[in-house]
Amino acid sequence: MLAEILQSLPPFEDPNLLVGFEASSDAAIYKLNEETALIVTLDFFTPIVDEPVWFGQIAAANSLSDVYAMGGRPLLALNIVCFPKEEDPEILKEILRGGAKKVREAGALLVGGHSVDDPEIKYGLSVVGLVHPERYITNAGARPGDVLFLTKPLGTGIIATAVKGGLADKNVEERAIRVMAALNRAASEAMVEVGAHAATDVTGFGLLGHALEMAQASKVKLVISASQVPVLKEALEFARLGLVPEGDYENIRFCEKVVEISPEVDKDRLALLYDAQTSGGLLVSVPREKAETFYEELLKRGVFEAAEIGHVELGPPKVIVTP
Ligand code: CO
Ligand code: CO
Repeated sequence: MLAEILQSLPPFEDPNLLVGFEASSDAAIYKLNEETALIVTLDFFTPIVDEPVWFGQIAAANSLSDVYAMGGRPLLALNIVCFPKEEDPEILKEILRGGAKKVREAGALLVGGHSVDDPEIKYGLSVVGLVHPERYITNAGARPGDVLFLTKPLGTGIIATAVKGGLADKNVEERAIRVMAALNRAASEAMVEVGAHAATDVTGFGLLGHALEMAQASKVKLVISASQVPVLKEALEFARLGLVPEGDYENIRFCEKVVEISPEVDKDRLALLYDAQTSGGLLVSVPREKAETFYEELLKRGVFEAAEIGHVELGPPKVIVTP
């Protein structure tokens, strides 16, 4: 809906605007000079976990992720806060403490922000990052022959739903929280190091939704092998029980016509491929000859749950899921 409204407004054009909001990109990029371009982005949402300090960390990691997805380095961050004035200020303090922790971990500076009185808590960051104007990465550069990687396991949406329903134990919840709160910094540095062709972060549209955007932006066919995709095994168990968030059905409806699912694909595993992620990993397309080095670079930087999940082929833009 937002995309449609934005398209009806007169576009902003400038020779230095390298990436604007016409593309389904993660952030905008503006070239300052031959060496430097700015990456700017904003993201915020309602609490997805009970503990305020973790919510703060996850929301900040998610906001920073769009800079990492484009191969940039976060420089400055601003808080954006909605908070009810009758609510305990300690909660807000914890949220902001969590956010600040992640900004520091990203090597960026928290320099201000804005808050409004609102009945529903929301938190996130606006982030300014830096990237070389010729070396930024978008979801439009995937080429036939590339190998696809996903750097975090899927299933955090399903686990969040299980937590809300009181079905997940503390360990499972904590495992999902750690996945969501992890920065995509190391994965981003690894992909820049090897010269990845394309990348995006997996968030609300799920792996298949974001893969479809990459296929369309790059005008290629993405082939994903469901069994190779890293998943949180507890999420798979909840999917088997039919515990799937409402939003995931929207992702299924959105993708159905353009994603080709082989009939042998396990249905529960498929549910995870559609699962809306909060602060998910990077979907990265790397040249085949760099695939091995990329995986080594990921491991070297502690991104242990990353996996090769498929490849890119010549053909009409679509996504094919094989067993
Ligand atoms: Co993104
Ligand atoms: Co975003």
